[in-house]
Amino acid sequence: MQTQQKNIDLANNIQMPMVGFGTYLIQDEDAQSLVHQAIRAGYRHVDTAEGYGNEKGVGLGIKAALAELGISREEIFVTTKLYPGNEAWGQTPKTYESTIESLQASLARLQLNYVDLYLIHAPFAKTERLNQWKALIELQRQGKVRAIGVSNFNEAHIEEIKAAGLPLPDANQIELHPWSQKPELVSYLTQNDIAIIAYSSLVPLSSWRTVAGQDSAKTEQMKADGVDSNSPFKVMAQKYGVSEAQLLLRWGVQKGYAVLPKSANADRIRQNIELFGFEIDEQDMEAIAQMDRGEGVAWSSGDPTKEV
Ligand SMILES: NC(=O)c1ccc[n+]([C@@H]2O[C@H](COP(=O)([O-])OP(=O)(O)OC[C@H]3O[C@@H](n4cnc5c(N)ncnc54)[C@H](OP(=O)(O)O)[C@@H]3O)[C@@H](O)[C@H]2O)c1
Repeated sequence: MQTQQKNIDLANNIQMPMVGFGTYLIQDEDAQSLVHQAIRAGYRHVDTAEGYGNEKGVGLGIKAALAELGISREEIFVTTKLYPGNEAWGQTPKTYESTIESLQASLARLQLNYVDLYLIHAPFAKTERLNQWKALIELQRQGKVRAIGVSNFNEAHIEEIKAAGLPLPDANQIELHPWSQKPELVSYLTQNDIAIIAYSSLVPLSSWRTVAGQDSAKTEQMKADGVDSNSPFKVMAQKYGVSEAQLLLRWGVQKGYAVLPKSANADRIRQNIELFGFEIDEQDMEAIAQMDRGEGVAWSSGDPTKEV
């Protein structure tokens, strides 16, 4: 298969490549080499966050890849996220001012002048959510971020922004895969022209975050389902001559979502971007639509879109 890429149009003519390289659970010291490898393999979109503690390594990886491949900064779409602070976890929520400072600190770690997309990582800071959003609007006005968005926000969180008369997010990054399809939220986002970025697309795999310490709320039952040799995804993947991971990622892009596969393995990094040489047929898409189990499992504290 040949590496082809597709984009999603955000407002202001900004093009977001549909396949991004995810970097959660990649240590700072490993991020440089893995991000470099990913860009070499054809990725033009990299997803990091203040909360991942790896922005320095991600920035070094981008720098090394640009130098090696002779491509310009404008050809790479970089997303980072504001860690909002959560009072319920004893943290101080970021204010308008500390949000501005957080982006400055992220840019310094990344060694970049701007990021392409800046997201509020989760709707945790109830009392400061709107101030954080106003700070993102200001950062966009200053040209330090090209597009702005949210992550793990539900309909009510976005309605809060609407009710305040503020511009709506360009994108919402949420957990989406066949076991967590969030149909109401997806149709709300589509109606409001908010691009959808799916994370943790590979949850149904038996190999998903199996390394010690990579905790989530994925249950033992789900793990058992994943290793079943009759896994419906395995059967479908065989039919299309692809891996289960490619099948799960293709489901996301076929639904119109950007996807962010993370891997620390060179072969998987290459494989996870090869998604445009096959198509899941209507019958299989319908079968997958019946597999929804509701809430996401990627966060050990539960699906953050359930926050009030
Ligand atoms: N906004 C948010 O709240 C949020 C939350 C979670 C994730 N994210 C973003 O979304 C990205 C992706 O989500 P994720 O990291 O949770 O999970 P993911 O990309 O869905 O899955 C990663 C897991 O699958 C394994 N894997 C990767 N490719 C594979 C393949 N081809 N075959 C078999 N196994 C494979 C990886 O192991 P190896 O590394 O060993 O290959 C790892 O255990 C994150 O890195 C992050 O950028 C955002």
